Amino acid sequence: MMEMYSPYRTSSNTSNTYREHLKKEGQERKRNILHLILKYLLDNNLHSVAEILQNETQAGLYYQVCDNIDLDIVLQEYQSYYYTKFQKNPKILKKLAENEQTPIKKDNKRPITREKAQSVKPEKKEEKKEDPFQFEIITLSKDQSFSEIESKPLCDFENYSSEWREMAEQIIKQIIPKTLGITFKDCISLDETFETLKEAIVYPLNYPQLFEKACTWKGILLYGPPGTGKTLLAKALACEAPSTFINVTSSAFISKWRGESEKMVKVLFDVAKFYSPATIFIDEIDALASTSRDSNHEASRRFKSELLTQIDGIMKSEEVFVLATTNTPWAIDNALLRRFEKRILVPLPGENARGRIFQYYFQKNGHDFKNDDLAEFVRSTENFSGSDIRTVCKEVEMSLVREKLEQIKLGKADKRKSGPRQAKTGDVINALKKIKPCIAKGDYQKYIEWGAKYGAT
Ligand SMILES: Nc1ncnc2c1ncn2[C@@H]1O[C@H](COP(=O)(O)OP(=O)(O)O)[C@@H](O)[C@H]1O
Ligand SMILES: [Mg+2]
Repeated sequence: MMEMYSPYRTSSNTSNTYREHLKKEGQERKRNILHLILKYLLDNNLHSVAEILQNETQAGLYYQVCDNIDLDIVLQEYQSYYYTKFQKNPKILKKLAENEQTPIKKDNKRPITREKAQSVKPEKKEEKKEDPFQFEIITLSKDQSFSEIESKPLCDFENYSSEWREMAEQIIKQIIPKTLGITFKDCISLDETFETLKEAIVYPLNYPQLFEKACTWKGILLYGPPGTGKTLLAKALACEAPSTFINVTSSAFISKWRGESEKMVKVLFDVAKFYSPATIFIDEIDALASTSRDSNHEASRRFKSELLTQIDGIMKSEEVFVLATTNTPWAIDNALLRRFEKRILVPLPGENARGRIFQYYFQKNGHDFKNDDLAEFVRSTENFSGSDIRTVCKEVEMSLVREKLEQIKLGKADKRKSGPRQAKTGDVINALKKIKPCIAKGDYQKYIEWGAKYGAT
């Protein structure tokens, strides 16, 4: 990480150092921007433009954008910052007058004509190499989500206030697009939980005649250690279920709508009813509804009580369902807990499941291990979550990349020709030495005990 420079620091050559620092910072920013653009192009299958960008700037050859950031997130954050500060959305684009519309020219000489633009090689439809770690880099509010709601545009809400509509627009951005591409097959060894979720969300819609109103579940809480696949399950369900899925990430919800979150809950449920059948997916609900004392101030209390009222409201209608997840079920208000008729533990994977998760990620990366090897990895990963195992596989992959880079630097390999080699048992054993499970053995017991008291499966 870059060290933050304080312009107030005094030393004899302060101004020189400061100038140097600004220059470095500017270069770093430029490099980051180029990488973010490259990632955006690749994520949107604009491969030929990405290739040109890479050839001209070397972006993506030596660095890659971290998992938890992309241009979409940067823009969203900026918009929400701007909204908080000025109570309106920032204007990003302005329409050009006809005489201002100049095509981009290469080298400031040759304008790209329409014919030339059309002669650019069409996008190769070739399969993009599947990125097994893609779940983390997808945000849920891509523009695709709009296509789903085109048939029912928000202008139907014309009788509502502009404030209401603005909030509704923010919520619509949180609709999980069906094109996210996560399926049940990506949720390894979570069959039982998925089946319960389908029973609540999918079957009543597919076989309405079989489900009397009283029989359908209205609220399900998935709890369990971090990284066991709760969010993953919900996203898979969002892609597979025939209903609209609205994702509410609790922490974002609270920080964005501080003071207004109570109003936002109302709008959230209104929008869900409008786009019903719909599922409101509240990830990490503990952040919203914890019992801890410091969250007990007035706004938070009003917010919680609005949430309870709204959940009670949907109990009477059959079209909206609430799915929530938490890593700390004991932190949830009893009153709220009662609204979740099903409280299901998403457990740490057992031996069999760990073997299958290893296999899943190795296969995605084109590695093949014998059953004996897998059995050894499984033995060394007691208490590992699915996410921990994924991190191990990622570390293996990274070690192979590092090795290849080293060879390229020493001139022993051609950077354009071959990719990293196949993984061997030793690579996995080395990775296992570096990665520890996110949860200690004793802590897991806490979930089991909580489940014995409050679980409802
Ligand atoms: N059972 C599983 N099968 C496949 N991948 C898993 C599984 N559990 C976790 N993962 C991986 O770990 C990542 C993080 O899991 P996540 O669903 O965010 O955990 P949680 O929400 O329970 O904290 C997932 O995106 C996925 O890549
Ligand atoms: Mg999660």
